[in-house]
Amino acid sequence: MEHKILLKESDIPRQWYNLAADLPTPPLPPLGPDGKPISPDMLAPVFPMNIIEQEVSTERWIDIPEPVLDLLYRWRPAPLRRAVYLEKYLKTPARIYYKDESTSPPGSHKPNTAVAQAYYNKEFGIKRLTTETGAGQWGSALAFACALLGLECKVFMVRISFDQKPFRKFMMETWGANCVASPSTETNAGRNVLQETPDTPGSLGIAISEAVEQAVTDPSGQTRYSLGSVLNHVMLHQTIIGLEAKKQLAAAGEKLPDIIIGCAGGGSNFAGLAFPFTADKINGANIEIIPVEPAACPTMTRAPFAYDHGDTACMTPLLAMHTLGHAFVPPPIHAGGLRYHGMAPLVCQAIVEGLFTPRSYHQTKCYESALTWARTEGTICAPETSHAIAAAIDEAEKAREEGKEKVILFNYSGHGLMDLTGYNAFMTGKLSDYEMPEEEIRKFTKDLERMPKAEMRKSGRW
Ligand SMILES: Cc1ncc(COP(=O)(O)O)c(C=O)c1O
Repeated sequence: MEHKILLKESDIPRQWYNLAADLPTPPLPPLGPDGKPISPDMLAPVFPMNIIEQEVSTERWIDIPEPVLDLLYRWRPAPLRRAVYLEKYLKTPARIYYKDESTSPPGSHKPNTAVAQAYYNKEFGIKRLTTETGAGQWGSALAFACALLGLECKVFMVRISFDQKPFRKFMMETWGANCVASPSTETNAGRNVLQETPDTPGSLGIAISEAVEQAVTDPSGQTRYSLGSVLNHVMLHQTIIGLEAKKQLAAAGEKLPDIIIGCAGGGSNFAGLAFPFTADKINGANIEIIPVEPAACPTMTRAPFAYDHGDTACMTPLLAMHTLGHAFVPPPIHAGGLRYHGMAPLVCQAIVEGLFTPRSYHQTKCYESALTWARTEGTICAPETSHAIAAAIDEAEKAREEGKEKVILFNYSGHGLMDLTGYNAFMTGKLSDYEMPEEEIRKFTKDLERMPKAEMRKSGRW
């Protein structure tokens, strides 16, 4: 039995997989301020046209440009590992595999899309990228990608994480980026929030408003905005994870997994692993596919499916998704990357179809799972990743109770070596759980009643 299944560089997938081509009911289109579907031109001040083309594409396979592969070879193909020590500890007949995305230079799956986005922007003649970051993983991934391609990079980092994770900022600066706490005084969006709530912990929605504003107001026209999750092209770039995993599982002598798990903030690492297997499920395979979120930010499990803005200042188009409302300010839980109010429209449409079964966990259960993991498998996972591990442990225990030899595959989306303050808070008893009260959800989602209605269309097959 192999502990790690490695692919040769020559086995790297050369095309990304686009789930939009295969979903039985396509996702609803993004809408502009007039409530009508937006045209690609309307996105041009924000993204370069080559990325907009990918955003709206319904082609099943999209070639990965050779120069992007050259960038990805720095850490890809990523290992598929078998969690044998955890299996033994749990005394489970399940075989637990995980795709190790923590081996990239910034330590997560985020550079898979960061290098692609930086490449397409550079090809289009762009000189500077702006972005937001929650936990700092995305900001450091884009800083890394911009350093490789010689682009300037500006990162608005959610205040609470900026304070909790100073080392992520130092990483971004090491790669040459400029990182400020959001809300900042550099943008109208930031100043407005600060005036109303000077002590706000910030949110991804606010940071996105700031980054978009700086991109679209650059008089030189040479700045664009880059998003680390949620949008179709980001999901697309991440599918290299699942495509590699398919080859690796086959090399390990496995057929399709029974259960696939990923944590989901905006949906990208989950989608990256799950979408290529979702195609098999659409074609009849019996796979349970589980995106996991924090109970404190219950987008998929408790929020309505509605049209909403991706940011607090309502600068982005309306997306059809599960959303807690663009004004939502999440409680300061330690999994900073899982505190977004919305979720990728492609992931949400698959949830509406019944292809995915989302679940949520409280943070203390996730940290307990992270400690079990560290003391069996040995590595220290990101707080976001601990949500996937908690679900994998639950499923492995269920397999033990049922006496079934299930194959569980999950995404190890990142390491937690920059997140040790969260571990320390947990181990010294300072973390508590937070269940979002129903009235709180109603308060933040009230505004959505004014938006165009998002119809829940489904084929009824699942
Ligand atoms: C390690 C890690 N995992 C998961 C996520 C969640 O993002 P997404 O749902 O886009 O994968 C983040 C976000 O910052 C992250 O840093």
